[in-house]
Amino acid sequence: MKENFFTLRTVAWDDGRVKMIDQSILPGRLVYRSFDTWEKIAVAIKTLVVRGAPAIGVAAAMGLAIAASKSKAGSKAQLKVEMERAAAGLRATRPTAVNLFWAIDRVMGVLASTDGVPAIKKAVVKEACGMAEEDVLANRKLGEFGAKLLDDGDTVMTHCNAGALATVGYGTALGVIRAASEQGKCVKVIVPETRPALQGARITAFELYKDGFDCTLISDTAVGSMMQAGKVDKVVVGADRITKDGFVFNKIGTYQLAVLAKRHDVPFYPAAPSSSFDLKRTHDQVTIEERPFDEVVKFGGKRVAPKGVAVVNPAFDMTPPDLVSAIICERGLIASPVQDNIATIMG
Ligand code: MRU
Repeated sequence: MKENFFTLRTVAWDDGRVKMIDQSILPGRLVYRSFDTWEKIAVAIKTLVVRGAPAIGVAAAMGLAIAASKSKAGSKAQLKVEMERAAAGLRATRPTAVNLFWAIDRVMGVLASTDGVPAIKKAVVKEACGMAEEDVLANRKLGEFGAKLLDDGDTVMTHCNAGALATVGYGTALGVIRAASEQGKCVKVIVPETRPALQGARITAFELYKDGFDCTLISDTAVGSMMQAGKVDKVVVGADRITKDGFVFNKIGTYQLAVLAKRHDVPFYPAAPSSSFDLKRTHDQVTIEERPFDEVVKFGGKRVAPKGVAVVNPAFDMTPPDLVSAIICERGLIASPVQDNIATIMG
């Protein structure tokens, strides 16, 4: 069993401020930054200082907690106006990960059901901090369920970063790998770089290497050849949103992994807490974030594409349920066909 698993918290409440690891400068520097307004947190979410579906959900919840605790409102009605403004600003940061909206709705629900400004302030801070703790517990639990799917000696391919740094701690896809390792299984990990923002190379490779895992970084273009060569036993990825019809939205490139996994008889497992499920929407009702073109036309800050060339930069893609072997969640494993079984497990 490994002793030095990534124990840092990605997002933490710090006496009226929010402390977050600045993921935009990883792996060069591991630095905590402190945020004292919801507006600064919104910018941090938009610019990927904090990223990963569960992490941005908790960051937004804590942003609302700051908005409430710093408010000078003399009545609930006035506080509600201020918090609604903050909620709208936080909601407008990134459209795809449902955890963001789930977290904001949860905190706004506490506002609605509590009376008296001091009591509301206390309750929303408690709710946001509670969500951070719940996230780590959910990841540990789903890790235990998912680890049962991995065998000693497996090589697992992941994508993007669905690790401790994408959550408050422990991780979803990487939580499954951590849990397998804690159970004494030896698991190797293949990490696609994940262009254009390089979360695989910069963050997953950093996180796994730091924790002593046997991990190998590959270019995104090597995914197919690795599977064709029989070097991948299982694929485990995270999810930003899983719709009620079983479609899995995750980092751009995930769909390619799923198609190739099917072609090569490699099981494909998304791992996500219940906060990533959207039981209200079907796949055609989800907005896929478009990110700045600079992420594509530049590499390492240098322009690599001709000026004026047309660019599209979708940040996420959608994997249909027929490519999913099972979904790993803290409530258990959702077996294939997942679109038929989500409602049973998620209630
Ligand atoms: O754009 P990002 O870095 O926020 O995208 C993150 C992902 O796609 C993760 O795989 C997903 O959020 C799951 S994190 C547990």
